[in-house]
Amino acid sequence: MNVDVYSKNPTNPNRLPHNINDVVMSIKRLGRWFFMPHRFEGDWRVLESEWRKKILPPDPLIEKLKVLERRKIAFDVGAGTGYFTVHLAKLFEKVYAVECNLEFAKVLARKGIKNIGIIVTDKPPEIDFEIDFVLFADSLHEIECRDEYAEWCRKHARYLAVIDWNERCEYGPPKEDRIDPSSVIELFDGFEFEELPVYECHFFLFGRNELKDQPRG
Ligand SMILES: C[S@@+](CC[C@H](N)C(=O)[O-])C[C@H]1O[C@@H](n2cnc3c(N)ncnc32)[C@H](O)[C@@H]1O
Repeated sequence: MNVDVYSKNPTNPNRLPHNINDVVMSIKRLGRWFFMPHRFEGDWRVLESEWRKKILPPDPLIEKLKVLERRKIAFDVGAGTGYFTVHLAKLFEKVYAVECNLEFAKVLARKGIKNIGIIVTDKPPEIDFEIDFVLFADSLHEIECRDEYAEWCRKHARYLAVIDWNERCEYGPPKEDRIDPSSVIELFDGFEFEELPVYECHFFLFGRNELKDQPRG
């Protein structure tokens, strides 16, 4: 199985993948190095359930990404078991899944998708290349180091999307833990956002880094 797992510094996006034994060993080592707070507490299968596909279909995101001019590198931050990552892998040459939960990372690794690299960490990974797109799907409200991620995105990312639970929905995380769209826009200062009203239970913000990508025409 060809899946690569990095510790913190995937400096070469074209690095050759390891085999599955390397993946498992790296994950075990990383598990000892990183403190991982407990976050999403449910069974990971919920993340990939038919119910989730109904309330959060990936199609609106896919349609939005298809028209991007550059589709070389994407990051899925708080990727979980890869519900969105697998779709990103069809659109981008290389996708990095950043996930702090080892169990979820292992589930994604077992999918064996060649152009997905898995980074097990709860902090923004150190990189020295540009990113075409960063996704935070149902993850930003769980991420403690949001300011660090905002800085990281300003520095590296051309586009980003934040999809997260809206305040109206009766399902989902406790309402006091949710994040509202206006604070996301404030957090990612330097990005110009549009909001796509496509989901019942989620808001969907798509942002363009004003310093990196100029509108055409
Ligand atoms: C509700 S799950 C969503 C997973 C995936 N994005 C999806 O849509 O299926 C949120 C994920 O964010 C991860 N997470 C939370 N804080 C994180 C952090 N600081 N760094 C990386 N992952 C984080 C959790 O472990 C969990 O897998």
